[in-house]
Amino acid sequence: PPEQPARGLRLVITAGPTREAIDPVRYLSNHSSGRMGYALAAAGVALGAEVTLISGPVALATPAGATRVDVESASEMLAAAEAHADGADIFIGCAAVADYRAASAAEHKLKKGDDDAGMTLRLVRNPDIIATIAARADRPFIIGFAAETQDVERYARDKLARKRLDMVAANDVSQPGLGFGSENNAALLLWQHGDEVDQCHLPPQPKADLAEAILRQALTCLTPTTPE
Ligand code: PMT
Repeated sequence: PPEQPARGLRLVITAGPTREAIDPVRYLSNHSSGRMGYALAAAGVALGAEVTLISGPVALATPAGATRVDVESASEMLAAAEAHADGADIFIGCAAVADYRAASAAEHKLKKGDDDAGMTLRLVRNPDIIATIAARADRPFIIGFAAETQDVERYARDKLARKRLDMVAANDVSQPGLGFGSENNAALLLWQHGDEVDQCHLPPQPKADLAEAILRQALTCLTPTTPE
């Protein structure tokens, strides 16, 4: 039988973008396709885990064997994450959550003014989903992603500490052919090891392979080998 090191573990993954309504026909969002998060879900199932995939709006088929929960906004994603994180062993925040939403979504479609004066949209901060899960007393092993365009290691270390994560996969989204929307991705993986932070470079490869490599490292952290 195939080796299934994650058998018996519950894995919760957020994936894709969020959509923040401006009015009934417009929204704020980003270029996340969901591919990285969906690859993690498929890899989790293949390794034997029970997988819940909390997904923003994407055009991807649900990986066989995963349970998918569809959401649109960051607030909905937070509610789903809080509901499903209970009793989870690993929580992975791969979603590109909008940091801001419109202060109030208009009930009716916004109309253009008569002049060219422009328009101001007031934004307010969205809740931080992964930091909310990390603040729980009985928390799962938490893996965050960091989408950076410069100083990848410095910002990734900062996110690991500030959001109190166990592991962070930092991708340099300024590299052509990697990150948002692409087939392939690469990551600098950092994880807490006692008081130290260990790291390894995962080179450019299909998202399916990268997902498996990240999960295998997480499983190693979860089940430290006992010294003989
Ligand atoms: O979906 P693809 O097209 O395959 O692209 C994959 C990806 C580039 C989107 C993915 O690999 C990735 O990097 N996801 C995280 C994107 C992101 O929003 O990074 P961030 O540095 O802004 O956020 C850091 C972490 O906090 C992430 O784990 C994020 O899910 C989480 N977060 C951020 C804001 C917020 N309000 N709540 C959160 O939980």
